[in-house]
Amino acid sequence: MSTPAPLHTIDLIRKKRDGLTLDDREIAFLANGAADGSIPIEQLAAWLMAAWIRGLSLGETRALTIAMRDSGEKFSPARLGKVAVDKHSTGGVGDKTSFLIAPLAAVCGVAVPMISGRALGHTGGTLDKLESIPGYRTALTLSEFETVLLKCGASIVSQTPSLVPADRVFYALRDRTGTVESPGLICASILSKKLAAGLDALVLDVKTGSGAFLRKQEDSQYLAALMVATAEAAGTRTVALLTDMGQPLGRAAGNWIELVESVELLRGHRPAQSEDLRELSLILAGWMIHLGGQAATPEAGYARAEAALGDGSALGNFFSMIEAQGGDVSVFNDPAGFHKPGATEVLLAWESGYIAEMDTTKIGWAVQRLGAGREKAGEPVDPHAGIDFNARRGARVEQGQPIATLYATSAALLAEPIALLKEAILISKTAPSKVPLVGRIFTRENAEAHLRDAVR
Ligand code: URA
Repeated sequence: MSTPAPLHTIDLIRKKRDGLTLDDREIAFLANGAADGSIPIEQLAAWLMAAWIRGLSLGETRALTIAMRDSGEKFSPARLGKVAVDKHSTGGVGDKTSFLIAPLAAVCGVAVPMISGRALGHTGGTLDKLESIPGYRTALTLSEFETVLLKCGASIVSQTPSLVPADRVFYALRDRTGTVESPGLICASILSKKLAAGLDALVLDVKTGSGAFLRKQEDSQYLAALMVATAEAAGTRTVALLTDMGQPLGRAAGNWIELVESVELLRGHRPAQSEDLRELSLILAGWMIHLGGQAATPEAGYARAEAALGDGSALGNFFSMIEAQGGDVSVFNDPAGFHKPGATEVLLAWESGYIAEMDTTKIGWAVQRLGAGREKAGEPVDPHAGIDFNARRGARVEQGQPIATLYATSAALLAEPIALLKEAILISKTAPSKVPLVGRIFTRENAEAHLRDAVR
């Protein structure tokens, strides 16, 4: 057998730059070079930009996903004795469904090993939100992760240093080089981490609309189908739901305030401003319970999840997971007392009319710049920063009525987010038409066909 010719990064950059397709060995060379530091950062950045501009073929996306998955250690859920199912969202504003879904699916008999991320671009991060609970540890070892899963059925943690190291490098680089919004790169980034967690099944919440990384319906549909086909080819049962990110999900967007809203729902309350969050969480949990073999249909899974919300069992499970990870749940006894933002300002409606449109990406940047997100990787975030919305899309508001309450680290940080919110929110004389919360659903039955027909 002849020895394969040595590979050189410069050749792979030029190949992608010129619109050619890389083979599996070439893709693995790049992923391994990112993981072990043997390829210089500037060459990885150049290749990412070429991939962003030229796009990745289906084969390249699959190869990158697998190579990244295999670039470090992996978790095996075999000893949990249950079907392991996770949910992952492509990123949004006010997206806190994980805090409801993880305990809902866990109490219905599914194991939920959830490896989550931090804020990326304008979107919030599950880990940053959880770390607003005093003592909560997100950086568990894989053996501690397994212990929490055996005890509670769900655990939400960060990537370990050696789990998917290729993504750690690519993710940070993409955030700094304007190469986040690429279907192939997003697919490989998300799925490599999910597949490294050894999942049996996966429910994907693919955001669409003004706050999504890919705003256009057809791009979100392509990403959804791409992720389903890629994960199924790797042996994980996967479904993707296209969901609306044309406004923040629920009432709160920030860190601590998102946990407060979630726990309110887990306590069985149903504030009108949180109804979309409740509904989406039940739909996604219903799919997880179904794919986890605990309900015959997603609808039956929804009904089981709704019962677990009503009887308080999901709340008990969430609190036990927090305690198992070192968190102090007593802060939920007086959530308002714990909430200590440096500065607060109420934004009043500047005219009367209907909230017709929300540019959710701008709203996301406003949340980050209040102190809830970071300018540079590694910076601390303010647990108390964020925005509570008093009025949501479609609401009738009168001039002078509160629209949103902003919480900032300091008064000096309020001006830019207020200006962003005023640009982001359109008040109109006519009521907007209703946008469905969930759009198309992709499964292994329709994903490949969609990819074949999609014009790209
Ligand atoms: N979330 C990820 O983990 N990766 C992406 O590229 C985008 C969202």
